[in-house]
Amino acid sequence: MHGPTVTSKERGVLWSLVDDLLRDHRLILASNRGPMEYHISPETHEPQPRRGSGGVVTALSSLTNYVDFTWIASVMGEGDRRVAEMHAGKAIRSPLPGQRVSVRFVNTARRTYHKYYNIVCNPLLWFLQHYMWSSPYTPRVDAAIYDAWETGYVTVNREFADAIIDEARQSGRRALIMVHDYQLYLVPGMVREKLPDAHIQHFLHIPWPASSYWELLPRYTRVSICESLCNADIVGFQASRDVRAFLDSCNTFLPESRVDYAAGVVHYRGRATQVRAYPISIDVDEVRQIALSPRAEEYDHRLRPALGKQTIIRVDRAEPSKNIVRGFQAYDVMLERHPELRGNVRFLAFLVPSRTHIRQYQRYVEEIEEAIKQTNSRFSTPTWQPVQVYFENNYVQAIAAMRLYDVLIVNAVIDGMNLVAKEGPVVNTKDGVLILSESTGAHEQLQVGALSVAAADVEGTARAIYRALTMTPAERTERAGRLRSTIEREDITHWLYAQLHDVRALTA
Ligand code: G6P
Repeated sequence: MHGPTVTSKERGVLWSLVDDLLRDHRLILASNRGPMEYHISPETHEPQPRRGSGGVVTALSSLTNYVDFTWIASVMGEGDRRVAEMHAGKAIRSPLPGQRVSVRFVNTARRTYHKYYNIVCNPLLWFLQHYMWSSPYTPRVDAAIYDAWETGYVTVNREFADAIIDEARQSGRRALIMVHDYQLYLVPGMVREKLPDAHIQHFLHIPWPASSYWELLPRYTRVSICESLCNADIVGFQASRDVRAFLDSCNTFLPESRVDYAAGVVHYRGRATQVRAYPISIDVDEVRQIALSPRAEEYDHRLRPALGKQTIIRVDRAEPSKNIVRGFQAYDVMLERHPELRGNVRFLAFLVPSRTHIRQYQRYVEEIEEAIKQTNSRFSTPTWQPVQVYFENNYVQAIAAMRLYDVLIVNAVIDGMNLVAKEGPVVNTKDGVLILSESTGAHEQLQVGALSVAAADVEGTARAIYRALTMTPAERTERAGRLRSTIEREDITHWLYAQLHDVRALTA
């Protein structure tokens, strides 16, 4: 990892660096999903704020405890839309306790947002970047995708860029703009046109695939993505594999560029863009506080009757790249092979509904339900059911559940990082075993304590589950200890510090 090491005890150093930077910079952060979302209360019919969900929000929320800044995010539903309309494009102070942040909603027309989110961002870019296509058949880039790019993706990126430019101009200070993830690739280029002196950083939370895979997309889309990103001062990725792949894409798609692989720099049209890996993490103290909160205690009591003598847990968005179906298949194989464990072990899956308007996600949920039904109907007895699923967005319940696992399965097909793999070991109270697929970004750091599996290897995953369930207490303790200390050492503070350290070096 780039930059000096900072432990969570050294937060003071980080926050004085932040103070220093923010004395002469206005921090503006932009991501599709923001730190809070308004839901219409069924009782009062009024918008009620709630914490936003997903990896970006989980990772960045801790920043709102320490720094005052503006976070620009999309309107997610009717509640947000009503609040955004009431405030007519102005930033709103977050009403949530502990969030020192102003949120400015980008209130995109519904039809435009649909094209951006349900046609380009998720089925196209997310699928591409997680190698989720069956390339002889999918994707089929047709006129509807061309249209969704032009009148959905480009439009929303333009709306974000305009909001950023407006916020930056209002502040009168030099802007430090942090743009997040694949939904906003075109923002750095659009902002740079109007704010030549701003410091722009783009951080990508998901993997960057090989150039040959990008080549399935029309040339102008991949070229405009790379060109825009080369307007950032720093492009950050989760892992060194992504840095290498991005440098290679610039080299391949931007003939005018000069790529310095050793230094990790792309020179393009008079600018030098630093390309670096900053493996993201969690706020260890905050996650532990949530795990010990009265609400988590309540869930703990409610969940205990559902546990087996040993309990396997998974926590994921209901998302094809998370490889949930193969996880159940591996459990099924393990139960088949080891009848002595039937009745003693339970698998509790906490699945968050996600992207429910997209056909592939709807189908995947059906496949998950089918896999659970199969295992339950094969092995259930009058007193025991092997799998139980909780299908809801309930972060505190998921954290409470992770206190109680003997085995945590994270077997994503491919994942930028995977924060569940970092949350679990720091809240777990049983020295539980982490089974982790090699293709998650988290594997680079956590292989020291995890049992590694290959994502498609159902047989190997079944064996890993058995090994985890029968591991000696001494080995469990040793592995869990290694996971905890790695995650504590490289928590979110480390991630932020490394980035701000680099910003400081470039802006000094
Ligand atoms: C991942 C992505 C985020 C996204 C989250 C939830 O963590 O990197 O950008 O916000 O998934 O997905 P959603 O589509 O619900 O925002």
